[in-house]
Amino acid sequence: MMAATKIPEVVLGSSSGQRTMPVLGFGTATDCLDPNALKTAVLEAIKLGYRHFDTASIYTSEQTLGEAVAEAISLGLIASRDQVFITSKLWCNDAHPDLVIPALKKSLQNLQMEYLDLYLIHWPISGKPGKLVYPLTEEDLVPLDLKGVWAAMEESQRVGLTKSIGVSNFSSKKTENLLSFATIPPSVNQVEMSPFWQQKKLRDFCKANGVVVTAYSPLGGSGTSWGSSHVLESKVLQEIAEARGKTIAQVCIRWVYQTGTTVAVKSYNKERLKQNVQVFDWELSEEDLDKINQIPQHKTMLREEYVSAHGPYKSLEEFWDGEL
Ligand code: A2P
Repeated sequence: MMAATKIPEVVLGSSSGQRTMPVLGFGTATDCLDPNALKTAVLEAIKLGYRHFDTASIYTSEQTLGEAVAEAISLGLIASRDQVFITSKLWCNDAHPDLVIPALKKSLQNLQMEYLDLYLIHWPISGKPGKLVYPLTEEDLVPLDLKGVWAAMEESQRVGLTKSIGVSNFSSKKTENLLSFATIPPSVNQVEMSPFWQQKKLRDFCKANGVVVTAYSPLGGSGTSWGSSHVLESKVLQEIAEARGKTIAQVCIRWVYQTGTTVAVKSYNKERLKQNVQVFDWELSEEDLDKINQIPQHKTMLREEYVSAHGPYKSLEEFWDGEL
């Protein structure tokens, strides 16, 4: 059996009490959840050294993830809950000040855990309260009361339901707005990022403001309804991968890591899980990085469904604040 990889960790914002997060996480979002495949993959991942697991109430993966972690403890793969870092996210229909804590408690109930390590606002938009709907429909879209929702996120950290709080899919401008009034600043902003959507502006902004960026869909979300195969089919990445004796996926994950960014990558496949963690004992050269920097930029996940003439965002430009 391959020795488990020691995944490096990054320190999260000082107001979170100097907590750390493994730089590589296991993503659980799929179009159609197969609980058995997820459970097997989580156990395999823990054996390989993964310690950071990314879920969300809308992914319906919380319960199985929680069961898998409990099984890993009973099998002796890890000693206790506190040896894993668990992220979950507040879905849009619950993104209302009085619904944040109940939603977080529901996530904890699904996971059968007493606390989260990180809780994120999933999108900078709300859906009408009630059933969790994906994708949101035009009639559901309502403005996010960011001040009220963030105050409830802060409260959830204060009372110990989560160790850290953050956001997802926030542009630089939206993050800046949040920082202007937050008592507890966001620890993390989790966004789409790959060699095809490098997020330079957002990364620079977050770095200057002590917000850790986590890249989702570092492989372009290939094989999902929201993603594309263009990253894994890239000629430039293929050439770099071949020259280094690595795969395109490894080049993508290593590239994210070398930009100083953390990453959540989804695989439920044993071989690919193994491959994706083998990115810490080699590096991309300056020349490789230059080639990657020249890749024409293309955002895959635009989320047109969050934009409507009657909703809070009238255009994609407004939704992403020009970062598209
Ligand atoms: P699978 O679960 O069958 O491995 P992203 O993290 O960018 O959203 O991409 C996830 C997609 O990429 C999933 O469809 C996953 O499929 C696939 N994938 C994950 N790791 C690799 C890899 N090393 N090589 C090829 N495809 C991968």
